[in-house]
Amino acid sequence: MKIAILHGPRDLRIEDQSLDASQLAPDDIHVKTIISAFKIGTDRGNYEGAEHVPGAPGYPRWVGDSNLGEVLAVGSAVQRVQVGDRIVTRQPHQSEYIMKESASLVKVPPGVDPEDAVYAHLYALSSLCYRKAFFQPGENVAVVGVGVLGLGAIALGPLFGARVVALANSPVRLEMAEKVGAHAGFLSNDPDLGAKLDDFTRGAGLDLVILTANPWPAYQTAVDIVRPNGRVSIVSLLGRGENDLDFNPLSMDRFYTKGISLIAVSGAAGYLYPENGGSGKTVDRFAPDRAAEHVLDLMADGNLKPSSLITHRFHYSQMVEAYEMAFRREKSMLGVIFDWRDA
Ligand SMILES: NC(=O)c1ccc[n+]([C@@H]2O[C@H](COP(=O)([O-])OP(=O)(O)OC[C@H]3O[C@@H](n4cnc5c(N)ncnc54)[C@H](OP(=O)(O)O)[C@@H]3O)[C@@H](O)[C@H]2O)c1
Repeated sequence: MKIAILHGPRDLRIEDQSLDASQLAPDDIHVKTIISAFKIGTDRGNYEGAEHVPGAPGYPRWVGDSNLGEVLAVGSAVQRVQVGDRIVTRQPHQSEYIMKESASLVKVPPGVDPEDAVYAHLYALSSLCYRKAFFQPGENVAVVGVGVLGLGAIALGPLFGARVVALANSPVRLEMAEKVGAHAGFLSNDPDLGAKLDDFTRGAGLDLVILTANPWPAYQTAVDIVRPNGRVSIVSLLGRGENDLDFNPLSMDRFYTKGISLIAVSGAAGYLYPENGGSGKTVDRFAPDRAAEHVLDLMADGNLKPSSLITHRFHYSQMVEAYEMAFRREKSMLGVIFDWRDA
């Protein structure tokens, strides 16, 4: 089988590895990848050798975690999937693999396009930006940073009942934001931003700002535009690969006096009515696979189409080209799919 391995900064190679699928353990699932999707922000950071993310593996390491494949075989005790099912997993960019049934996996509902479904987990993370911040229908939401996660948050906003404004650093990305349903969009360095946002929110202000960009100026924009007592959901890895801070991010005027909440978009979302996971344990109702199932349902209903933002399709052997484009921060590149069908 083929797998993409990163040996160091900007040293990505497609390698052959052996895979013995002749004897599956009872809880094993053998999967053949159809396509995988590029997760620009995180994957680019790893590729460049930006600040190490705690818990992430060192070099040489696998890359990617948005995989859509077909189940080729299952172990004797597997119950969640059958041979022939299409599943979305968080497995790396590779042509074929054996995974445990207990690992993250979601079945793709019939009729959902693989090029939509492969974004299920990325969009589930975009949805966590709302859930973790206890979003209420009708709130005014700004999304700062219009990459894959930002566009996911923008596309989900109207479905969740938000009025959404996109703040980008490029007109190309503002066009994309409009295409997926933003009610408005501005450049984050627009000199009239305050007045335009005031107009957009009819003076009520931005209740929730979703920050999806790493650079500190994007953070400054987020905490400046959120209304007093508002919330800022931070899904970006703030400061990763950026220059050191030259200001106080929690200065009184930005944080204490303004009374805002800064929310890390990771881990479990708070939820009033947790699911009973059996044996007396309560579990997160919107744990990642459950959130991905919800996203896939929205796709099945025809309300969410991440594939409309696919700008590039590459054969897996051309993967380095995609990473180099991300390294150059090419704004015309957004949705990138790697095709593994003939691997
Ligand atoms: N919390 C988590 O679990 C988690 C998981 C996955 C990803 N992430 C992080 O989430 C972030 C978003 O991911 P992504 O794939 O969507 O990344 P992305 O494609 O890099 O999106 C961020 C976008 O924001 C833009 N930007 C930078 N500064 C800006 C500013 N001042 N105003 C407006 N836009 C600005 C960036 O432009 P430039 O390219 O010009 O900088 C880029 O287009 C990344 O930091 C990633 O590491 C977090």
